[in-house]
Amino acid sequence: MAFRIAPSILSADFARLGEEVRAIAAAGADLVHFDVMDNHYVPNLTVGPLVCAALKPVSKLPLDVHLMVRPVDRIIPDFAKAGASIISFHPEASEHVDRTIGLIRENGCKAGLVLNPATPLSFLDHTLEKLDLVLLMSVNPGFGGQQFIPSVLPKIAEVRKRIDKLGKDIWLEVDGGIKTDNIADVAKAGADTFVAGSAIFGSKDYAATIKQMQQKLAVV
Ligand code: DX5
Ligand code: ZN
Repeated sequence: MAFRIAPSILSADFARLGEEVRAIAAAGADLVHFDVMDNHYVPNLTVGPLVCAALKPVSKLPLDVHLMVRPVDRIIPDFAKAGASIISFHPEASEHVDRTIGLIRENGCKAGLVLNPATPLSFLDHTLEKLDLVLLMSVNPGFGGQQFIPSVLPKIAEVRKRIDKLGKDIWLEVDGGIKTDNIADVAKAGADTFVAGSAIFGSKDYAATIKQMQQKLAVV
């Protein structure tokens, strides 16, 4: 299985955001995870399409945009124009989940659905075949640096089964509390894409941390 590491810039130094993205690209990251929060759907406020567009030319890494905003549809074309490769949203933040998936695809991006720790997998019943990515939250959304919630592990395994049964190349990403010491467990459960914010940006040597993560994944 191909594994991908997606550092979340939520934990980067925002005064030096461009340099931080260059640094994770040089350190071997596969994606840039871009957390968008609106102080409405989640109790925190971060960055929008302007910052996304500013970071686009900084590296060749695909921008993995995680929208924690409600409502979500209005802002999707703006992120597509700003250079997002993947746009993911929470079903609770959309009035019409199928329409939002269609809107992301019509705007030329890959579509992801994000499920919070307490959000049931039934949201995938009529959507999975239309998705490019399922993002399972292993913390409640809103903040970096929270503890991984272990009850998400069997949920990851269940989504892995559903994806394999469907036989489509749908990425299974996990977001929240991932560190070098639990990334292998998350991979064993069936994830292939790993968001890590504080674990990478809180470390002294980004390349060494990403390398350690890759080494843990290599023996899964
Ligand atoms: C939480 C965000 C995460 C967060 C991950 O709402 O979606 O991407 O930044 O940060 P860590 O890895 O520190 O849990
Ligand atoms: Zn995220």
